[in-house]
Amino acid sequence: MKRPIAELWGTGRYTPKRVMTNDEFSKILDTSDQWIRERTGIRERRVAGPDESNACMAKAAAEQVLQDTGITPLDLDALVVATCSPDRLLPSQACDLQALIGAKHAAAFDVQAACTGFLYALNVAEGLVASEQAEHVLVVASEKLTSIMDWSDRTTAVLFGDGAGATLVRKSTDGRGMLSSYMRSDGTLAELLYRPGGGAAHPPSEELLKDHSYYIHMAGREVFKAAVLSMADACDKALERAGLSAGDIDLLIPHQANIRIIEATAKHAGVPMDKVYVNVDRYGNTSAASVAIALDEAVRCGRLKPGMKVMFCAFGAGFTWASLVVQW
Ligand code: ACO
Repeated sequence: MKRPIAELWGTGRYTPKRVMTNDEFSKILDTSDQWIRERTGIRERRVAGPDESNACMAKAAAEQVLQDTGITPLDLDALVVATCSPDRLLPSQACDLQALIGAKHAAAFDVQAACTGFLYALNVAEGLVASEQAEHVLVVASEKLTSIMDWSDRTTAVLFGDGAGATLVRKSTDGRGMLSSYMRSDGTLAELLYRPGGGAAHPPSEELLKDHSYYIHMAGREVFKAAVLSMADACDKALERAGLSAGDIDLLIPHQANIRIIEATAKHAGVPMDKVYVNVDRYGNTSAASVAIALDEAVRCGRLKPGMKVMFCAFGAGFTWASLVVQW
C-alpha cells in the first residue's frame, strides 16, 4: 500500500473534574497508595460524575477537534467512537454523539476493541479515506470505566479511570500521516479480561447483580504478561512496516495501563524513556481513551511537534493489540 494516505488533523480531550487519589481507595478497600504506585505507577485517576456521561465527554473532546481544525459538524462524513463502556448498549455511542454535535451528513458507528479501540478506529478511518467514502472522519475514544468496574474488588478498581480523546482523519497533506499500521487479536484468551454478564448470553438478572458478573473481571498477572509480549510485537511490526528503526522514532505513545508494561515495551522497542509519553500516574487506565488523551496532551504541551515521527501501541481485552507510526 502506498503511504501515507491519511493524516491525523487536530486533537482534543476531556477528563472529568473529580480527581480520586490512591489514599481515597485505601479508605474503602484493603489497599495502599504505596502498593498501587509501586505495582502500577498510578497516583490518581479521574472519576466521571452523573453529569459527565460517555456522550458528554465524547462531545467535549470532539468539539476541541472541530475548534482546532475549523471543520464544522456538517463537514463530517463519518464518526467512529471507540468505547467499551457506552452509555447504553443500543444504539451506538457514535449515534448519540452524532445527534449531540449535529453531524447531519455523517455515518456513525462504534468500534469495540477495549483498550486498543482508538488504534483500531484510526485504522478504520484510514480505510474510509483511502476508499474515498469519506473526506473527514472524526475518531473519538471515550470511556466511563468507573461505571463498569467492581468498586469492591481491589485487584481491578484501583486501575481504571474515565475520560475521552479525539482526532480527525483526512487525506494526507505534505507527506504527513500514517506511515504504517498493524492490528491483531486472540479471542481464545477472552476470559482473562472480560465482563461475563449483562449481554445476550447472560441477560440482566438479580443473580448477575449479586455475583458481580456485570463488572470487569481480570486475571491481572496473565494479562500483564500478554500485554508486554503483544505491545512488543506491535512495536516491531509497525517499525518494520514503516521501514524505520527505533532511532527514527521521536515519541512513543503507548497505552497507559501500568508503568511497568510501558517501561518493558519501551525497552523492547529500543526507545529511551525520555521519548515515551507517560500520564498513567494521573489518569490510570482509561482503556480506549488512553492513547487519545495522551496524544492530545503531547500535542498541547509541545512534546509532539510537526515533522516528528510518533509511534502508538496498545493492548486490551479480546485480546486485541495494535500499533501505528505517524509522521506528525
Ligand atoms: N492492593 C493491595 N494488594 C493487592 C491489590 C491492591 N490494589 N491488588 C492485588 N493485590 C494483591 C493480590 O491479592 C496478591 O496478593 P497474594 O499474593 O496474597 O495473593 C498480590 O497483591 C500480588 O498480586 P498480583 O496480581 O500478582 O500483582 P501484580 O504485581 O501482577 O500487579 C496488576 C497486579 C497491577 C493488576 C498487574 O498484574 C497488571 O497491571 N496487569 C495488567 C493490567 C492491564 O494491562 N490491563 C490492560 C488491559 S485493560 C482493558 O482492556 C480494559
